[in-house]
Amino acid sequence: MKRPHFRHLCLSVIALTIDVAIADEPAPGQVSFAEDIKPLLTEKCVHCHNRKTLPEVFSFESAKRAFVTLKSGREVIVPGEPEKSLLIIALKSPHGHEKAMPMVGPRPTEDDIELLSEWIKQGAEWPSGPAGRIRPPFRATE
Ligand code: HEC
Repeated sequence: MKRPHFRHLCLSVIALTIDVAIADEPAPGQVSFAEDIKPLLTEKCVHCHNRKTLPEVFSFESAKRAFVTLKSGREVIVPGEPEKSLLIIALKSPHGHEKAMPMVGPRPTEDDIELLSEWIKQGAEWPSGPAGRIRPPFRATE
């Protein structure tokens, strides 16, 4: 009676291998930090989320300042896990973020949120050094 069981196990392993192989294929829509994420954060977030305007919250000026755990104990960006990333949670529940009203500048669209979510899912690659530095086009004043 051992054999059928063994065969079943083999099939599972094969199925699993196929699954992993599919998951490993590069996604057709690979999100680029330089081309997609940096412009989005520059246009819609960093004029508030910089060290001068919101010293008590967090800044999108560099990876070092953006990959942080807030006082609430929640992480802004959890690579690979958009549903655990406060960045996505905050944008998906606009009320949570509208405490910051009146919002200054353009608001993120559904597509923007989808893009950020996909970027986090793909590992939230954010280079260090000048390539990863984001400068506020202007600074919102509170
Ligand atoms: C008009 C200024 C402003 C803009 C623009 C802005 N934020 Fe915020 N954000 C705030 C303020 C103020 C807080 C802290 C108060 C709060 O929790 O609402 C905050 C908090 C957050 C938090 C933490 C929420 C929490 O529950 O602690 C996240 C994440 C966040 N912002 C992401 C973003 C992203 C991403 C963008 C760009 C799409 C953005 N913000 C644009 C002002 C702004």
